[in-house]
Amino acid sequence: MKLWGGNFKGEQDSKLNSFNSSLPFDIKLYKYDIAGSRAHVKMLAARNIIAEEDKDKILNGLAIVENQIEDAIKNNAYLDFDAEDIHSLVEELLTEEIGSVAGKMHTGRSRNDQVALDIKLYLKDQIKILQDLLKKSIITLAKISEQEVETLMPGYTHLQAAQPVTLGHHLMAYAWKLKRDYDKLADIYNRHNLSPLGTGALAGSSFSLDREMVAEELGFSGITENSLDTVSDRDFILDFHSSAVNIILHLSSLAEEIIVWNSPNYNFIEISDEMSTGSSIMPQKKNPDVAELIRGKSGRILGNHTALATTLKGLPLAYNKDLQEDKEGLFDTVDNLKEILNILPNFLESISFNRENLEKATYSGYLNATELADYLADKGLPFRLAHQVSGKTVNYGIKNDCQLSEIKIEKFQEILDQVIKSSQNNKNQSENYNIMIDQEIYSWLDLNNAVRRKNIPGGPAPEQVKKQIINLQNLFK
Ligand code: ARG
Repeated sequence: MKLWGGNFKGEQDSKLNSFNSSLPFDIKLYKYDIAGSRAHVKMLAARNIIAEEDKDKILNGLAIVENQIEDAIKNNAYLDFDAEDIHSLVEELLTEEIGSVAGKMHTGRSRNDQVALDIKLYLKDQIKILQDLLKKSIITLAKISEQEVETLMPGYTHLQAAQPVTLGHHLMAYAWKLKRDYDKLADIYNRHNLSPLGTGALAGSSFSLDREMVAEELGFSGITENSLDTVSDRDFILDFHSSAVNIILHLSSLAEEIIVWNSPNYNFIEISDEMSTGSSIMPQKKNPDVAELIRGKSGRILGNHTALATTLKGLPLAYNKDLQEDKEGLFDTVDNLKEILNILPNFLESISFNRENLEKATYSGYLNATELADYLADKGLPFRLAHQVSGKTVNYGIKNDCQLSEIKIEKFQEILDQVIKSSQNNKNQSENYNIMIDQEIYSWLDLNNAVRRKNIPGGPAPEQVKKQIINLQNLFK
């Protein structure tokens, strides 16, 4: 007989049973469901709502039920249970174990506050696990960055080489992104750390339940304020999804860069054989499948977020069965994130950087064009004019197939004088900038110097990157 069978005649359609059942996926929540029941039953006894000895019978029975379910999961036999959901299953098994006294467990409780509790407890655990995993990836990125604070590479905008940075600086950018994700998880944990138990089906309870006691026993920082809000609330899942989306957006960008760097056109990195895969037809191929899967998994993680938001849209208060759809996407996102973050540190460490090619790429493509403009601005030329001079010089370089550092002082001077002159003619300006190009220009144009000059907090100068690495590491101490 169903938990709710009193008012029903005959059997449910078997199609309805399987359509309605959430057991195939909410079995995952059994530990949290039982933990919630324990806390609830202890409180019922403390408030004299049930007898002490009934409480003891129930607690003893729950221990047995917990083992039973654990074994069934281990042996892949949990689908043999005939129950509507994990909450029903626990009560049914408990009844088999200790008889009808098991029915006292549900006094002052509904599956509606129960399911909200179970998911919150599950999520609290998972957030901690994910934070730990994220931390490992962040620390790994910082460790690799430490070794690469001097490694020159092009910084990009629009996927075009823009200005010189260092590999350490580039990788640390991802470390900081992931650190924000880490903090966001902590924020979500704290914001939703309120116990729903005691809000009942929708209207609380006539029993004088001690909600605070249950909350404390289960490690919540307090209780929710409104029963209707509580049993309809899935913001904690939605917030978690949004956090997961942040994480995967960051990781898919990192993955994309790894894929690009690994392509023969860039040849910036090599992924070790242990972390590469091959092609079944083309023997020469080594594929960055790990990175591609990380990038690819962003689809389902974004999808799970959208799916829940869509399910919640327009739901009236309070509980509706639609809410049962909250779980599979959540589990999917959690499981996939865990898998990704499990392999990521090893994958990152399996990459060797081709420093020579990174540097070579920095020295071609006029990445010092801004340095030339800065040099002139430093000498007193308005930056707008300096930009023009540099642009024209780059144009000269392209036409003559040479780098800026190969251009003679006289040529720089000639272009500079032309620009100043035409600016005076065009705009009727009286200013005459008397600027002499000197030998120092070549030191400005040197890419290594260029990076070192960007020596302000947040900049790519090795000294600054060392500082940000230490700052980040200290945040985890
Ligand atoms: N399996 C349900 C869920 O996942 C549990 C709550 C059921 N409540 C109800 N009134 N049918 O949401």
